[in-house]
Amino acid sequence: MTRPVRAHIDLSALTFNLSQARRAAPDSRVMAVVKADGYGHGMLAVATALQDADAFAVASLDEGLQLRNAGIEKPVLLLEGVFSATELTAVMQHHFELVVHQALQLEWLETLDVSARLSVWLKVDTGMNRLGFAPGDALAAWDRLEAMPQVETLQWMSHFACADEPEHTANDHQESTFRQLCMQREAPRSLANSAALLTRPSSHVEWVRPGIMLYGASPMAAGHACPVELRPVMTLGSELIAVHHCRKGDAVGYGQAWVCPEDMPVGVVAAGYGDGYPRHAPSGTPVLVNGEVAELIGRVSMDMLCVDLRTQPQARAGDPVVLWGEGLPVESVAGAAGTISYALLCGVTPRVPRRTDGVSD
Ligand SMILES: Cc1ncc(COP(=O)(O)O)c(C=O)c1O
Repeated sequence: MTRPVRAHIDLSALTFNLSQARRAAPDSRVMAVVKADGYGHGMLAVATALQDADAFAVASLDEGLQLRNAGIEKPVLLLEGVFSATELTAVMQHHFELVVHQALQLEWLETLDVSARLSVWLKVDTGMNRLGFAPGDALAAWDRLEAMPQVETLQWMSHFACADEPEHTANDHQESTFRQLCMQREAPRSLANSAALLTRPSSHVEWVRPGIMLYGASPMAAGHACPVELRPVMTLGSELIAVHHCRKGDAVGYGQAWVCPEDMPVGVVAAGYGDGYPRHAPSGTPVLVNGEVAELIGRVSMDMLCVDLRTQPQARAGDPVVLWGEGLPVESVAGAAGTISYALLCGVTPRVPRRTDGVSD
């Protein structure tokens, strides 16, 4: 018997979610965002399963190389471009597509041999103030790229800051800034992340870039319903490893932070912050025990957490527990813990065995 915490990865849910993306944006090509180890799901398994995607997006050359080394030949975009001119050799060798978001990257491209043939996405900062050329500088950057023999294809990209809040005025502003700019140099464009893909058809244009929705978590901010069905790809599961019968006034866990209001059963689950469960999840955070909602009580430890079993006095050591996933949306756990589903999914630690459709990695 090994420690029972596991991340189950359901690839059929992944392909279902991709089909939901396609249905919502039927006229756009889909660039599946698989960075950060496929949002914690295992990038290679994810990319291999997403055969219907038109391209993949990653955060770094290293991630791109992992895809190529696994035999994935589809277009792969490096979302932050290169971090130094030296990376360009591998970019050309492996036919990666590149974001160019700042002037230094233009200089690096200009140093390349003129026989180079790069696919470049010019990133415009339409209001997020993170990556990209300011709209006032973007046309000059475009023209400079267009003049380079090293650049074979050139496309437009920007990124929404508030797409998870569809009513936010920044969305209209960003989209119209982007559209006006792109009208001045006709080329394929990409703007929508998952939230925009599901709620802003006007933003779909030629390419959509879904990430989180593919993994089955709602891309919407708290209080906004997800407009389509998505299926959770990761289920973080474990088991009860002990059940105690505590007395009224007994305190549970580190700091004795939770005190039993009555005589009651308390379950101990083999999962903690050492597995990526959020340390700051407060008492009351939902946990599924035997498929029923129970509440986390006391502080989360490195390897364990405790649950209130008053609603399940019959629960025993060995009973199944779901921390998030099937039956318990990761966003509800994230909401209770004051974080986001992205952080929970990416944060599952390497010691948690991953079972991808029954196969261990
Ligand atoms: C540039 C870019 N495009 C698309 C995405 C996908 O976003 P989401 O996971 O919200 O769909 C990300 C995610 O961080 C991103 O950085």
